Amino acid sequence: MKEIKIESTLYVYNAIEELPNEIQNLMNKATQARENAYAPYSKFKVGAAILLDNNEVVTGSNQENASYPSGLCAERTAIYYAGAKFPDAKILKMAIIAGSTKNVTSKPIPPCGACRQAIAEYEVKQDNHIEIYFMGETGKVVKSNSLKNLLPLVFDKSVL
Ligand code: THU
Repeated sequence: MKEIKIESTLYVYNAIEELPNEIQNLMNKATQARENAYAPYSKFKVGAAILLDNNEVVTGSNQENASYPSGLCAERTAIYYAGAKFPDAKILKMAIIAGSTKNVTSKPIPPCGACRQAIAEYEVKQDNHIEIYFMGETGKVVKSNSLKNLLPLVFDKSVL
């Protein structure tokens, strides 16, 4: 038996103002996108903004459905839109802001497992790290330099 230890490094900023202007702007776009979230069932609204290497910013928000599993998270709405609209562009950075409309969320909200898997696909496809920033409606911001920090032991095309 061999023990394997997996280490991930994340950076926690006390407030969005501690981050460079470019990231603040991206988070502002995510905040705007969050306003378009359609979340009548969970009352939990998420916005995501993606910066591409062609300088375009693509945004998305969660879209729910009366048939619950048919809804989609903000991160996947955004990343699939980026892939559909700019298939050759590389994804550089993603900003995510999330929280309930029932109370103010100040805890950073990481992307769910399914979204991590979707983001991983693009990181592998483009062979370049994607920086990910996530926060609640207010408060601390967490930065990951690569999706791999959020999803070690990724399932990707190399195993197929
Ligand atoms: N949601 C996201 O948009 N992103 C995540 O990473 C986690 C969850 C959405 C899905 C659903 O509309 C609501 O948040 C509650 O789960």
